Amino acid sequence: MRIAVCPGSFDPITLGHLDIINRAAKLFDEVIVLVSINPAKRNSCSFTTEERLRMIEKTVAGIENVRVDSSDGLLADYLREKGACAIVKGLRAVSDFEYEFQMSLANKRLNPEAETIFFTAAAEYMYLSSSIVKQIASFGGDISEFVPACIRKEIESRLSRTPQAPRK
Ligand code: PNS
Repeated sequence: MRIAVCPGSFDPITLGHLDIINRAAKLFDEVIVLVSINPAKRNSCSFTTEERLRMIEKTVAGIENVRVDSSDGLLADYLREKGACAIVKGLRAVSDFEYEFQMSLANKRLNPEAETIFFTAAAEYMYLSSSIVKQIASFGGDISEFVPACIRKEIESRLSRTPQAPRK
């Protein structure tokens, strides 16, 4: 049984993430979408771990071999614990590459049994990130093209705010 882990902050999950998860689900027997802690974002997440888990669960409900979990430890240890053989990540642009390359080398050192596999982001999602979604939603913009329909309202109601008048 080939198990892959798709780790991330998913704050919140976007259609770009979902595209990577769908593609991974075609290649592996089981895919675990793992809400993990990125120390650089630890104190700046807009949604709690439980909220992010619930939104991902709703999003992947129709994909038979995908399940959702969270971890507050090292990704390499999680893979070992679950007997997973691969970490799947999406690469959007060259700017993602240096950081992801560094992470993949560190993870390989920590767990030599696991491979990191990069999927090229679909052209229509190259620019998309959770931060972009949050910024658009916070200004009351339309995020329907960027997030799964089943969680759009939840994101909007959490993040939308009345724009403030510019200071004179
Ligand atoms: O969506 P993100 O924020 O780019 O995801 C990064 C994440 C959460 C996958 C990464 O920070 C991570 O793997 N965190 C778990 C702790 C860990 O194993 N760090 C890597 C050590 S080299």
